[in-house]
Amino acid sequence: MIDGSRLPAWTLRLGDCLAVMAELPSSSIDLVYMDPPFNSGMKRQGRAGLAFDDRFESLQKYREFLAPCLAEARRVLRPTGSILVHVDWRSSHHVRLMLDSAFGEGNFVNHIVWSYGLGGSGPRSFARKHDDILFYGCSDCYWFEPPKVPARSVRLKGRMKKATDVLDIPAINNMALERTGWPTQKPLALLELLVRACCPPGGTVLDPMCGSATTLAAAVKAGRNAVGIDRSPQAIAIARQRLLATTALEALAELTPRPLALQVPAGPVPVEPGLLRTA
Ligand SMILES: C[S@@+](CC[C@H](N)C(=O)[O-])C[C@H]1O[C@@H](n2cnc3c(N)ncnc32)[C@H](O)[C@@H]1O
Repeated sequence: MIDGSRLPAWTLRLGDCLAVMAELPSSSIDLVYMDPPFNSGMKRQGRAGLAFDDRFESLQKYREFLAPCLAEARRVLRPTGSILVHVDWRSSHHVRLMLDSAFGEGNFVNHIVWSYGLGGSGPRSFARKHDDILFYGCSDCYWFEPPKVPARSVRLKGRMKKATDVLDIPAINNMALERTGWPTQKPLALLELLVRACCPPGGTVLDPMCGSATTLAAAVKAGRNAVGIDRSPQAIAIARQRLLATTALEALAELTPRPLALQVPAGPVPVEPGLLRTA
């Protein structure tokens, strides 16, 4: 029997994120990661009819949708907490100004570029191959542990170095095992890096528009608690399956015996007299 009791807790809630976040106590969350619709003007289609609506009447309507979500995120975050808002070229400049208002422009930390390399190109522009992740702290005392990534330079080859604000992580390909079919699913590797960097071990991550629960799965793997909200019943069903599988795999990993570290004492090994044998 697998004992999952030592694993971090996760909670999923179906509903509008504003209404559900209103039920969360103030100063209770360490990290909010928010991956909202991008205002692409499309219905985002995934596998087998899975979809969510990314159409807003105007930019103003998009701002009116997002502004109260950012304010509510600020309320639930601890003073040592932080927020990561994942957007793209369509709205990152607007959302940055909205975050300045909600968190204070002095609390801006990074404009992270997630460079994924997948997708097409047009004849009239440089190919768009990145998303923008805006990182704000709630105060000067936000928690942060610089993540490490494999070094690329010939000099440091094989070693790890501190990550920069450009993260080179491939998008999920069609054959990837982690693919759930939910449209615009983000890669687990990206979320694991962000969660480990911005949420303390044992802390709590909130994803108010969690889709297929990539953030929550990353949190469970990283030993953080997680709360996810989505207004789509299909997303919540996928998220639940995924988190049950992730929790079971992590519990199995806990049970897998690891080699005992051999402790070799320095100097001559003491021999207890009772163990001495004479021939
Ligand atoms: C870009 S997707 C999130 C994808 C997710 N990061 C993943 O890896 O699967 C945006 C999600 O926001 C949800 N959503 C949009 N408006 C919402 C709202 N007001 N409350 C809760 N969820 C919302 C959509 O249903 C969709 O699943």
